[in-house]
Amino acid sequence: MNLVVLLLTKDATLSTPLLSAVSPPSTTTTSDSDESSSSADNSFRYDYHDLNFNTPPPPRPPPLPAAVFCSSYKSLAVLSGHVSSVSCLALCGEFILSASQGKDIIVWQQPDLRQFTKFGHGDGSVKSVVTAGNKVFTAHQDSRIRAWKVSRSSENVFKLIDTLPTKKDYLGKFMKQSNYVQTRRHHKLLWIEHADSISCLAVSNGLIYSGSWDKTLKVWRISDFKCLESIKAHDDAINGLAAINGIVYSASADGRIKAWGRRKTTDGGGDNKITHSLKGILQGHKDISINSVVVNQNGSLVYGGASDGYIMGWAADEGFESWKLVCEAKAHATAVLCVCLVGEFVCSGSADKSICVWRRDLIGGGLVRYMVVKGHEGPVKCLQASPERVGGGFMLYSGSLDKSIRVWWIPNHSKFHIWMSYWGWI
Ligand SMILES: *[C@@H]1O[C@H](CO)[C@@H](O)[C@H](O)[C@H]1NC(C)=O
Ligand SMILES: *[C@@H]1O[C@H](CO)[C@@H](O)[C@H](O)[C@H]1NC(C)=O
Repeated sequence: MNLVVLLLTKDATLSTPLLSAVSPPSTTTTSDSDESSSSADNSFRYDYHDLNFNTPPPPRPPPLPAAVFCSSYKSLAVLSGHVSSVSCLALCGEFILSASQGKDIIVWQQPDLRQFTKFGHGDGSVKSVVTAGNKVFTAHQDSRIRAWKVSRSSENVFKLIDTLPTKKDYLGKFMKQSNYVQTRRHHKLLWIEHADSISCLAVSNGLIYSGSWDKTLKVWRISDFKCLESIKAHDDAINGLAAINGIVYSASADGRIKAWGRRKTTDGGGDNKITHSLKGILQGHKDISINSVVVNQNGSLVYGGASDGYIMGWAADEGFESWKLVCEAKAHATAVLCVCLVGEFVCSGSADKSICVWRRDLIGGGLVRYMVVKGHEGPVKCLQASPERVGGGFMLYSGSLDKSIRVWWIPNHSKFHIWMSYWGWI
């Protein structure tokens, strides 16, 4: 235990994050008491500066328990301002957007993490926020999406520009009977309308995807906010979406993630039409809800967080035609509510109030527990990580049912994997 803890301590001290108005990260190194064992205490105490990877390695130390990678860790900042549970987070330039069950969306400015402005009060509890260029899309419990424009020149920085479905979309469709679908007995809606809360949004290649408790996945065009498609995607509520390279992944309470491929077809009139078709089913544990899904930058790895506390990972083949299970890790005592991905790190937030940081192994998509961060007093509902490197690590933002947002700095130890391979762990 000592060696790894030493590395954590040294590196954390050497590289203080660049945030100005907040205190440097704590260097507390207490390990998770429930898992730690005294056998971890061995005689291998190296000074960080003495590490020389060219000299023959010292004798192989005994294997260390997984708890070595966990250290109690303090958040850099706690942002409070929401009157209710924080439901979603998004990064938008130097802003952090957070939204809550209490309908408000707060804009925090970096690097001082001060409340910059608020917007969107009164449109129903906000379930998801995504950004695309200078636009922000929010999904609401009232089954509609709102589009906002970020403008630097005007006083009202986040300006509502439309509500989806748009009036124009309604007017073009409401006269025709075939545009209606039965949602409940004696209740019909246009196919462009969600019949229940929108739980998640994703943006990719000029399209917005919305997933809903009504089990449908809808596809919208960003250029004119027109609804292009509605897919009856799952047997139960859709909880999460991730989209990259023309493939969108939907995670559902039915225990599956489905991969939908985008296709351009030409209709009778010669118009280009975008449609999506099912490419694959990533099967989780039977009947266990998958609450969140993320995909890496080139689309080759997909991770889902499930209600039984597991993170499952799948690797796509080269043609994105099939997916193979590559990871099945018991991450938390209770449900995984959110997952985020930054570089080779996967972070999971749970109903058990903790956040676990995982590192992908070098081959394949397996995960190695890196550290556990605790501080929230309620379930961790949402996570975002900044892709920018800060002082030899990265920034992690978490939102919780305890109404607060916490800001963490996660050190990135480049030599970690050298030691791990030396110990024969990878
Ligand atoms: C995608 O990224 C993974 C790891 O991040 C890498 O192993 C894989 O070769 C990449 N695939 C492609 C097609 O670039
Ligand atoms: C962590 O460090 C390694 C080695 O310097 C680097 O390749 C990687 O991109 C870093 N990851 C993050 C998320 O900063």
